[in-house]
Order: sequence, then C-alpha cells, then structure tokens
Amino acid sequence: MPRARRSQLPDSPRPLPAVAYDAVRTLAVRGGSPWSRIADEVIVNTGSTHDRAKRVAGLARTARCVWSGHLGSKPEREGTPFWPQGGNLMDSSMNGSGLRYSGESVLVTGGASFIGSHLVELLVAQGARVRVADDFSSGSMRNLYGVSGEIEIFAGDLRDPGVAARAVDSVQTVFHLAALHGGRGYIDTHPVECTSNMQLDHVVFSAAVAAGVTRLVHASSACVYPVDLQASDSERLLLREEDANFHEPGKAFADGEYGWAKLMGELQLHAFHKQYGVDAIAARIFTAYGERENESHAVIALIAKAAAKLDPYPVWGDGKQTRNFTYVRDTVQGLALAGRLTGHQVLNVGSARHHTVLELMDVIFDHLQWRPADFTFELDKPVGVRSRASDNTRIQALTSWEPETSLSEGIARTIDWYVASTPPERLTRLEDLLLSR
Ligand SMILES: NC(=O)c1ccc[n+]([C@@H]2O[C@H](COP(=O)([O-])OP(=O)(O)OC[C@H]3O[C@@H](n4cnc5c(N)ncnc54)[C@H](O)[C@@H]3O)[C@@H](O)[C@H]2O)c1
Repeated sequence: MPRARRSQLPDSPRPLPAVAYDAVRTLAVRGGSPWSRIADEVIVNTGSTHDRAKRVAGLARTARCVWSGHLGSKPEREGTPFWPQGGNLMDSSMNGSGLRYSGESVLVTGGASFIGSHLVELLVAQGARVRVADDFSSGSMRNLYGVSGEIEIFAGDLRDPGVAARAVDSVQTVFHLAALHGGRGYIDTHPVECTSNMQLDHVVFSAAVAAGVTRLVHASSACVYPVDLQASDSERLLLREEDANFHEPGKAFADGEYGWAKLMGELQLHAFHKQYGVDAIAARIFTAYGERENESHAVIALIAKAAAKLDPYPVWGDGKQTRNFTYVRDTVQGLALAGRLTGHQVLNVGSARHHTVLELMDVIFDHLQWRPADFTFELDKPVGVRSRASDNTRIQALTSWEPETSLSEGIARTIDWYVASTPPERLTRLEDLLLSR
C-alpha cells in the first residue's frame, strides 16, 4: 500500500480505529521501534494526522513494555478514541508529605484500570518505581497516557503462574487490583467470572511471596460485609471492619459471588501473612467514582443517561438505596497510605456519608443544568443492598486519612470529563454498556 503523504492527510478529529491500536501493538511492543516508524504505520493504516499518530507512537514507545505474549486480549473497542482518558488528578499537593515511596519498587496489578491508573499516577508522584501488570481485558493503555514514559508495563494474564512470576520479579510492594469486576449490572450477571478472582488472587499472592515481596495490598471491597447489615432504609449503619471477619459466627455473609470472592481473597491474604510473615493489608474499597470509570457503575451510568437527555429518565430500583460515593482521588490516597502499614491490617477506604441515588441524581442534574420531566423506576434491575457507608475510625487512627472531596465537586469534575471525552455514538448503546465491564 503506498504511503500517504503528510500534506494530504485530513486534519479530522475522528477517533483512531482499532487498526491503529493493532499497528502500535505489533510494532511498538515487540522491538521498541522508533516512534517515526510506528507513526508512519498508523498513518498508513488509518489516514490519521501526523500529530495524532505521533502521540500514539510516543505513548507506545515510551512505555517500557515487557512483552509476555500479547498486549491485551482485545483491541480497543471500534470507535473508541485512543487518547488520554481524563487528566492526571495528582497535582503537586498530593505529594506534599514527602516522597513516601521514594525509590521503592512497586507493582500495581490491574494498573490500567479506573482506580489502578489513578493509583499509579499517585505512586509515580510519590517517587515510586512503578510496574503495571494488566491483561487489558477491561483496562486500557489510554488510562496510563500521562505516566507512560515513567513506568514499566507488563502485559499478560496474571492467572498464569509464569506471567505472575515475571510480573513480581524484583518488586518490594504489590498493590493487587487486578480482578474480573464491574458495576452491579456486571457482577450480578457474571457470577462465574467473579468467582474466578479467587484463583487470580492465589496465583498473584503465591508468586509475590515466592519472589520475596515484602508487602501485599489487596483491593478488597465493601461487598465483603454481611448483607443483613445493609438491608434497612431507615437504619443507616456505618460498617466497621470487625463486622466482617472469619472468627465469629455470623460475620461472613458477603454480597453475592463477587463479595464472597473478595472475602476469600482476604482469607488467602491472611493465610500468606500467617505462614510467611509478609505484610498483608486488605483495603476494603467503597463505591469509588470519577474520571476513567465506565458506564457499568452507577455514577457514570446516571451521568451518561443525563448526558443523553433520556426523558423519561430510567433509574435502576426506586432510587432510595444509599451509597457512600467516594471520589477516586481520595480512594487512591487511602490506598497509598494503607500501603505504608505493616503486619496484617484490614481497613475501610470509603466515605462515611450516606447519599441516596435520588440525591446523587439531583447533583448531576444541577451540574448539567438539565432535568427530565419524567422518571421510570426499573424495579426489576439489579441494585444491590439498600444502604452502605463506611466507618472510618480505623483508617483515621492508622493513617489520618479521610475523604476530602465533596460530592458536588467530585461529580462536577466527573461530568466535565465524561462530556468532554465521550463520543456521542457511545450514548446510543447505553443498554449494553450498563451490563459490561
Ligand atoms: N470501582 C469500585 O468502586 C471498587 C469498589 C471496591 C473494590 N474495587 C476493586 O478495586 C480494583 C480496581 O477496581 P476498578 O473499578 O478500577 O476495576 P476494573 O475492572 O476497572 O479493573 C480491573 C483491572 O484488572 C485487569 N485484569 C482483570 N483480569 C486480569 C488478569 N487475569 N490478569 C491481569 N489483569 C487483569 C483489567 O484489565 C483491569 O485493568 C478491583 O480489584 C475491584 O474489585 C473497586
């Protein structure tokens, strides 16, 4: 195929299709090809502008990829732009307490994910030498655009012990975020995938301990808490860590297969601590939201429906269920602080404020300055427990952490990102997106 001359290229803002991703994947990762060659390939294959192709190529080149067979099990979705997903939220104020990870070698499994990518940015800002291991089954290189030149990227399926062993090599601390996971629509319809996380956790913990990793931080979940404590509209409990444990009868009654698998992840984590003495921190993350999250999670789903101006506006459930929506910048601050603890620790990382979904919708409508005339309450849709929020006594005592971002500020930032980065055609297939990862 003849090469397109740069002067002939249209300067259109259309997204790069999957073929561009393939070109980068084939050329960049295999041999560290110079960006100009990759850029040319992207131009030939996509008719993109030189500047845009150059940015893609630069991203691929600067990411020091350790190639373990494939980069992701699927290309970027057709029509999804191969561009940075939301800015780096880790401004200079985020590392004000000093380089807490200075020079430390840290692995973030699932680091290309929504939460994982923000954590990677924070750890880089705090001086860590970061490696990301991800199979890109739902994570994306786009999420790592801002730090791609400063991290090592290891692509592969961590359920494979050989892949896991290479990923943990020469690492001091592992943040284990990789999981088959999504919003309520996904976890309720994919119980088998959710239970497979028990296998993934075991392989990662085993490899880490065998390689001499000194600290494991496991991304656990509020879904480990007994559902009977979260069943009431009127009695809004704050969940305490001791409410879910392995020692007392009646304290293990997790939320579905996903919650049980996370609880078993905690059990395994404790076993590795008990037998091998590795520092083992289970961080129970509560409903995080923010830039780079997808529509299978409630906050982004509600923003997407409002951005699409759906009227009547569909709501899963009656809207009176509560959650403690925690802005992702706060979540990853909590995770990074948890990663400085020693011994065996279990701690909540979430907000102690209950908000109903109806209240959340009001905040979204206010920011968008749009409100539907009518609502459809879809009572047959999966909604999870009635009420959930975090007691933060323990994490405050151990780390002084508490969430700093108000719901209105976090939602405003999330909406601005979503509206700016979402191609309009994506809003036409919301039904599918609400149930996928
Ligand atoms: N989002 C939340 O509110 C929330 C709440 C509680 C707990 N968590 C946990 O935090 C972690 C990150 O959450 P997220 O919302 O960013 O999730 P996510 O689904 O976006 O991220 C999971 C990541 O793991 C990767 N992955 C999946 N299977 C893998 C495998 N076999 N090998 C390598 N990589 C693999 C995916 O590509 C993705 O990047 C997950 O463990 C999740 O269960 C999240």
